[in-house]
Amino acid sequence: MGNDDIHREGEGFIALFGFLTVLFSQQTYAQQLPQGPDQAPFPNSYYPFASLVNITSVPQGYNITSPPKYPSPWMDGSGDWGWAYKKAEEFVSKLTIPEKVNLTTGGGWQSDSCVGQTGSIPRLGFRSLCLQDSPLGVRDTDYNSVFPAGGTVAASFDRNIWWQRGHAMGSEFRDKGADAQLGPVVGPLGRSPEDRRMWEGFSPDPWLTGQAGAQTIYGMQSAGVMATLKHFILNEQEHFRQLGEAHQFGYNITEVLSSNVDDTTMHELYLWPFADAVRAGVASVMCSYQRVNNSAACQNSYTLNYLLKGELGFQGFVMSDWQAQKSGVSSALAGMDMAMPGDTLFATGNAFYGTNSTIAILNGTLPQWRLDDMAMRIMAAYYYVGRDKHQVPINFNSWTTDTDGYIHLISKTGYGKVNDHVDVRGNHGKLIRDFAARSTVLLKNTNNTLPLKACDEKFTAVFGSDAGNNPDGPNGCSDRGCDQGTLGEGWGSGTANYPYLITPLDAISNKVHDEGNGIIQGITNDTATSQISALASQASVAIVFVNSDSGEGYISVDGNEGDRNNLTLWHSGEDLIKTVAAQNNRTIVVIHSGGPVLVDTFKDHPNVTAIVWAGMPGQESGNSIVDVLYGKVNPGAKLPFTMGSERQEYTTDILYQPNNGELSPQDNFGEGKFIDYRGFDRYNKTPEYEFGYGLSYTTFEYSNLQVDCHQIAQYYPTNRKSKKAPTIGRKPGTAEDYLYPTENFDRVQLYIYPYLNSTDLKASAGNADYGEKSEDWLPPLSQDGSPYELPPAGGSPGGNAQLWDVAYTVTAQVKNTGQVEGDEVAQLYVSLGGPLDPPRVLRGFDRLTLAPGETKTFTANLTRRDVSNWDPASQNWIISDHQKTIYVGASSRKLPLHQEFSTSNIGGGGDDSSN
Ligand SMILES: *[C@@H]1O[C@H](CO)[C@@H](O)[C@H](O)[C@H]1NC(C)=O
Ligand SMILES: *[C@@H]1O[C@H](CO)[C@@H](O)[C@H](O)[C@H]1NC(C)=O
Ligand SMILES: *[C@@H]1O[C@H](CO)[C@@H](O)[C@H](O)[C@H]1NC(C)=O
Ligand SMILES: *[C@@H]1O[C@H](CO)[C@@H](O)[C@H](O)[C@H]1NC(C)=O
Ligand SMILES: *[C@@H]1O[C@H](CO)[C@@H](O)[C@H](O)[C@H]1NC(C)=O
Ligand SMILES: *[C@@H]1O[C@H](CO)[C@@H](O)[C@H](O)[C@H]1NC(C)=O
Ligand SMILES: *[C@@H]1O[C@H](CO)[C@@H](O)[C@H](O)[C@H]1NC(C)=O
Repeated sequence: MGNDDIHREGEGFIALFGFLTVLFSQQTYAQQLPQGPDQAPFPNSYYPFASLVNITSVPQGYNITSPPKYPSPWMDGSGDWGWAYKKAEEFVSKLTIPEKVNLTTGGGWQSDSCVGQTGSIPRLGFRSLCLQDSPLGVRDTDYNSVFPAGGTVAASFDRNIWWQRGHAMGSEFRDKGADAQLGPVVGPLGRSPEDRRMWEGFSPDPWLTGQAGAQTIYGMQSAGVMATLKHFILNEQEHFRQLGEAHQFGYNITEVLSSNVDDTTMHELYLWPFADAVRAGVASVMCSYQRVNNSAACQNSYTLNYLLKGELGFQGFVMSDWQAQKSGVSSALAGMDMAMPGDTLFATGNAFYGTNSTIAILNGTLPQWRLDDMAMRIMAAYYYVGRDKHQVPINFNSWTTDTDGYIHLISKTGYGKVNDHVDVRGNHGKLIRDFAARSTVLLKNTNNTLPLKACDEKFTAVFGSDAGNNPDGPNGCSDRGCDQGTLGEGWGSGTANYPYLITPLDAISNKVHDEGNGIIQGITNDTATSQISALASQASVAIVFVNSDSGEGYISVDGNEGDRNNLTLWHSGEDLIKTVAAQNNRTIVVIHSGGPVLVDTFKDHPNVTAIVWAGMPGQESGNSIVDVLYGKVNPGAKLPFTMGSERQEYTTDILYQPNNGELSPQDNFGEGKFIDYRGFDRYNKTPEYEFGYGLSYTTFEYSNLQVDCHQIAQYYPTNRKSKKAPTIGRKPGTAEDYLYPTENFDRVQLYIYPYLNSTDLKASAGNADYGEKSEDWLPPLSQDGSPYELPPAGGSPGGNAQLWDVAYTVTAQVKNTGQVEGDEVAQLYVSLGGPLDPPRVLRGFDRLTLAPGETKTFTANLTRRDVSNWDPASQNWIISDHQKTIYVGASSRKLPLHQEFSTSNIGGGGDDSSN
């Protein structure tokens, strides 16, 4: 790495001129500037974050930064990682420097079978690690399943579904020979409703996302594969995340987007689900493309060293998103452990790690303890999920679904059998059908339009391209980069090839034929207006399928560069609904989308008697919706986001145009904590359908809220030092030891190796800036392996263990007051009471199945963390003095039960808190 890296390096430490931490004190609203010998406050770039909660925009030219944090914490086996640490230590202690380097770098784009694949250690019979997309199924192969998207199953509010889905997906990855599944996604959280990746993740509510993420990880890792939690952090839009992509779309920026956020919002919103995932033992975390507070996310010592590895005590490894790495030694020192896919840019044959890492060890810029820690984290994660017991040979190839192909496509070598077409689907089709049906949200149902009875219905008509096939086939568009036919998943790398796709029209036709003698006809041409009117007027019931698609930023579909341009329906869905509803007074609307859509034009139409949100349901789409429409499954899901009546009601939006000249666009998260329902509630906006909303074919009643408090001990900030950084195994040798092997070595062109071309380090690095000004840019403490201070909120995986002390048990009675069995997701919200707190935040839920007339007890535990606020001054969680209230009910706005409670039981006070 050289000068070039300096400019890309965490401005946190190089830009001493502009360094500041923005601290915001909950109690006083005062801003504080950090004190420190080398940290001169720079008034010109200072921005008063206190007013950010008041939705104001940050003036142009202000550079928001966060402080440099070094050294990079070394893993120590804390939490339940002790045994994995021991096994890793045993393995890593045998390794040479190039062998360790091999573990930390991919071989380059298209160098091997998987989308990412590390080097191997042939001497010990250790094969390279295979990392494979996507969060909803095995990407780029065949005989795999397509599961409902994360943002769809979030609506189930069902921990069992999340675990089972994780486990089933993990089994498919395992049986294809993959070591890591690149998922789940908890970032983006879903700051803006147009954000494309909302469907890949779970929900803009961090508590719900944390629960869904943790269960998914438990499920995946129980199948014996490593989960990879994406994308760390603040990757809240597609626009400007990558330079090449931005240039391709005509934006002349010189650096990628910077997402800028204050410390409190970081903790109470965006970091929250990552903490749950780390606590659940996630094996790896992928750092994202964009910058965070003006420092590259994969080279950001504040987010990687301090937040993730320090405060959250993360024990696994950090891998880069594909081409998100911007430097070598700087990235390693800032906490990035594995380079993916390994080359600087795709197929260049050059690498920031690889040869450069070996050189950096020899020239002393990369301390051995850091390389050892990188290798330890990778191997501990490998053992932690049982890869040593579950690994099977890689039996597919990402670059072809043919049987034969190149093993190393990068160099067009190794032609032969690359795909065994192993069918890994098991019974997953059945599960998928069930998961999607139980994630379907009933938004409107007047006059008991639903459920339908196939045997009684004389004439069923189905409308919309979203009900039918993609004429080019279910996988007809590369990475599903089009919106043709029914929408079962979005587009981009977060998808997988369909084994089949059951369309709604097919499934409804089958249902009608199987169970009755009715007429069933469909029109999948959205613009055949006169035919649509004619058919709608004949039918006894009309079902209209509409959608809204989104996907990853490297593909633009109909002018949507990943993120959606608006929240309206695609293919003029509103017009289609209007045309049908004008003719038919039992019009049912089914929406497929990855996030909110605007429903105001048809929601209150008297002839639209039912509306259903079915998300992105995966391969069994038609069967799942039939199960709901015809009542086999009584809908019990709830909206995992808010549907407003216009986009301006949301406090956030995508930054669609660069706002900083031709420099790095600056996206200031000025709305603070107030995204989605937190914003609607704070600013008294009435949504069309609120977060947590969803109907059933039966009805429920809530009663008898009870809050039982538990005495829990005083909170002790973690106040200890780590051990000294261990070095593991042999001392580094000399350059001669690490030259390219001359015998028995079949070098693959453009492949990334750990070896040197010559003993001249500069020549081997092939970098004009080699050795330049290195002393100036190595950040203070970055090479220091002596014990470091653990952050006060840290101490074990997920954070300070006392944060999970259970302080309250909340119960309420839920009764099924209708005629049929049904599920109700009882929800618990808490008001933390402060003037800068959202009116209510989700802090508990449970999905109960109730027979008609049956009453069950809803129970939820509240932890210390659940009733705490982040305090930037003490860098810890605190319990404020503000009056707190618990609410229980059926949605974020239907909360029939509430009770104020005291926090005197926490930290040794009295116990009369359940007043
Ligand atoms: C050490 O090696 C790294 C990797 O090639 C290089 O970036 C750096 O400039 C070198 N530093 C010195 C002091 O030679
Ligand atoms: C070492 O890293 C530099 C960038 O810092 C890159 O230009 C060079 O190609 C790399 N060397 C090798 C051998 O990959
Ligand atoms: C912000 O950064 C830009 C680019 O580095 C620089 O030109 C500008 O002077 C900085 N602004 C402030 C207020 O520091
Ligand atoms: C935001 O702050 C300005 C100026 O301090 C004030 O006039 C305005 O009412 C505030 N807006 C809201 C929504 O609180
Ligand atoms: C590094 O990995 C490559 C690719 O798998 C392999 O050819 C090479 O032998 C490995 N090097 C060492 C030192 O194990
Ligand atoms: C970007 O730069 C190119 C070449 O200089 C120019 O043709 C184009 O108009 C510019 N685009 C924008 C959006 O400024
Ligand atoms: C419901 O049914 C009643 C009687 O059949 C009818 O008068 C009314 O218009 C219907 N309401 C709606 C919203 O369709």
